[in-house]
Amino acid sequence: MATDGPSSVDINDSTQAVNSLCVPRHIAIIMDGNGRWASSRKLPRSIGHKKGSEAVREAIAGAIKSDVEFLTLYAFSTENWNRPEDEVHDLMGLLRFYLKREIKQLHKENVRLRVIGERSALDNEIKQLIIDAEELTKNNTRLNLVIALNYGSRQEIINAVKSLADQVAAGTLGPNEISADLLGAALSTHLIPDPDLLVRTSGEQRLSNFLLWQAAYSELYFTDVLWPDFTEQHLFDAVAEYGRRDRRFGARPEKSKVSAQTLSKEQV
Ligand code: FPP
Repeated sequence: MATDGPSSVDINDSTQAVNSLCVPRHIAIIMDGNGRWASSRKLPRSIGHKKGSEAVREAIAGAIKSDVEFLTLYAFSTENWNRPEDEVHDLMGLLRFYLKREIKQLHKENVRLRVIGERSALDNEIKQLIIDAEELTKNNTRLNLVIALNYGSRQEIINAVKSLADQVAAGTLGPNEISADLLGAALSTHLIPDPDLLVRTSGEQRLSNFLLWQAAYSELYFTDVLWPDFTEQHLFDAVAEYGRRDRRFGARPEKSKVSAQTLSKEQV
């Protein structure tokens, strides 16, 4: 777990996992570039996605070694259904495989798995695998791995707004009582602190409907590395870069000494 002690290592030395106050408590990753990785090798996109699922292990290992508490991975967006049927089929197959096989290893490593996103559109087998994986790992404490599956931030916000509107209509909530805290508590991420660092691979620089509310104050880190080439060293590099950033949360520099971890812990 992240320590509350002072920085003890040189954050410019990105060849090692960084264990200090500068470690982001929560890293969220948009894993992008599987298709380009495959097409540059004249391979089918399915191979790119398979290699991408292997890179997931690297990210998890890097997060554990860096003492990150939460790692959220954007595995399948609500927009990904628009891809050709065989690609959607391949991606669902990989996720099914992951939830069936990798979960045992994650459990051994004391990793807790949670899934966010709209489950109703997923097939029954995947739905059950998610329930089983969440139940199996619910007491694990080393790393919280959050998989965003059939996730779309706008829809998540709409659902939260609707639930608050229902309470207003029922007379149990006054319109003036609606606050950022209340809306945040109505999101699927209510038990998860906001991401301190949001990483996107493959050179693209956009959020693509990922954690739009939660990333309001996240540091953004874009790398040209294609997701299948992502290693734990790339995660250490991102953590080291995060350590060099000056987070202000909208305050003036001299007033911005609040750490990401202090802020996030208050939000949990
Ligand atoms: C983006 O690459 C990646 C995805 C849409 C899927 C991400 C899925 C995985 C990494 C594998 C399964 C995940 C888990 C957690 C087991 P892209 O296809 O959009 O690449 P492109 O932009 O180069 O075409």
